[in-house]
Amino acid sequence: MKIRPDVGLTFDDVLLAPQPSSVRSRKDVSPHTWLTPDIRLSVPIISSNMDTVTEERMAIAMAQLGGIGFLHRFMSIADQADCVQKVKRAESIVVENPLTISADASVDQARGLMAEADVGGLVVLDAHNQVIGMVTNRDVLFAPDGGAPLSQVMTPRNRLVVASQDETIEQARAKLFANRIEKLPLVDGEGRLTGLITAQDIIKIQQHPDATKDSRGRLRVGAAVGVRADDLERAAACVNAGADLLVVDIAHGHSEHTIAMVRQLKQRFPGVPVVAGNVAVPQGVIDLAQAGAEAIKVGVGAGSTCTTRIVTGFGVPQLTAIAECAQAAQALGLRIIADGGIRNSGDITKALAAGAGSVMLGNILAGMDESPGAPVIRNGRRYKIVRGMASLTANVDRKKLEHSEMPIEDWGDVVPEGVEAIVSYRGAAADTLHQLVGGLRSGMSYAGARTLEELWEKAEFIRVTPSGMRESHPHDVELI
Ligand code: XMP
Repeated sequence: MKIRPDVGLTFDDVLLAPQPSSVRSRKDVSPHTWLTPDIRLSVPIISSNMDTVTEERMAIAMAQLGGIGFLHRFMSIADQADCVQKVKRAESIVVENPLTISADASVDQARGLMAEADVGGLVVLDAHNQVIGMVTNRDVLFAPDGGAPLSQVMTPRNRLVVASQDETIEQARAKLFANRIEKLPLVDGEGRLTGLITAQDIIKIQQHPDATKDSRGRLRVGAAVGVRADDLERAAACVNAGADLLVVDIAHGHSEHTIAMVRQLKQRFPGVPVVAGNVAVPQGVIDLAQAGAEAIKVGVGAGSTCTTRIVTGFGVPQLTAIAECAQAAQALGLRIIADGGIRNSGDITKALAAGAGSVMLGNILAGMDESPGAPVIRNGRRYKIVRGMASLTANVDRKKLEHSEMPIEDWGDVVPEGVEAIVSYRGAAADTLHQLVGGLRSGMSYAGARTLEELWEKAEFIRVTPSGMRESHPHDVELI
């Protein structure tokens, strides 16, 4: 047994001392980071791989805003791969596999296909995959004869505007405008379909200039996996669906099976970055990094719905965990993700100033429109459900996923390390993210830092007493 002589600190134990600053405006500050050596984020914020936080809607919103979402793994392999695919299809420069139909299909068939796939148009092909027309919602909307062949309502090839596959975005935009059209099929030299550019996609690109995207203009997304035998299958399905990175998600990530899983993933998918965790001490970072992890999640028991520290007695106060683990990671040229316990933009600034490369949020994002948690009304106010992934109901639902219902009399055998709870409904993710990033930029300017690296260098923490923290909050006024 040994007792460390130092005291573990967390966010409320410290403040950042203001530093001389030449930053004139928050706009001069760039909070961008590298999640892994190859994945850049304009905003250093990740949505947590919890089943009340991140499925495809949250992942799409996070990537559009410049962060990224990690999809949770508490769903079937097929469902998780489907989520990945939905994120990857949400935006792209070119739709690579546009939906097609043959000219002898009926108007009703086209209506059905467009409704099912939620798209506004289909490219019409002949038997040799050559483009012979295009049919859009407008062509079939009021067509009186649902049984009529599409050739009667489509825009035929001689009136259809197409472009070559090498068209740039600017050229495509000019063509869409010149012809007052919304869809531009791309064809090769033989007239075969190679892709589709849509006005909708161009608008999305303009609306989200900071979005986190891959080289093909698709939003990036991470997919969480466990360490069981079928998790390799899960990883393969997610990678095939286009996942940009895999996240080995284990409560005690500094363990042999996590290390073994990281190794296996790196062997099987050498080009796919792996994030691993969670750990709370520097040796955990070193061991996972040596196994091949490119980013490490740090935080044991800090999360708002966690009871690990109470149930097991283990954990490291989060600011100390971040500072010590970040030092180990930086020595290896890697960055850590500070996961858990963050309640506001001040905590984000503190986590980053302590050395984190990015932060992971559960609680703050669980109340958003885009989170999958169920909405509830209590005393006339709106809330959403959030739950720890080691909570009782999460354990019971996990069994259900494995097709073995847990009889209610066995529920007592579960030793939960998390709770079920509600959080206030907070509207659209974009609004809260805007506030959080604004607060972070402001915080960086107090440090005189224009970049994260400067923040690391210039940050100076001061320990505070409970009265110092009380003074930090509004006091001696009645809030309205
Ligand atoms: P916040 O504070 O943002 O933290 O809600 C989110 C993180 O909490 C972790 N997590 C858990 N930890 N038992 C735990 O000990 C649980 O049941 C649990 N569920 C989530 C996780 O790291 C998440 O990102």
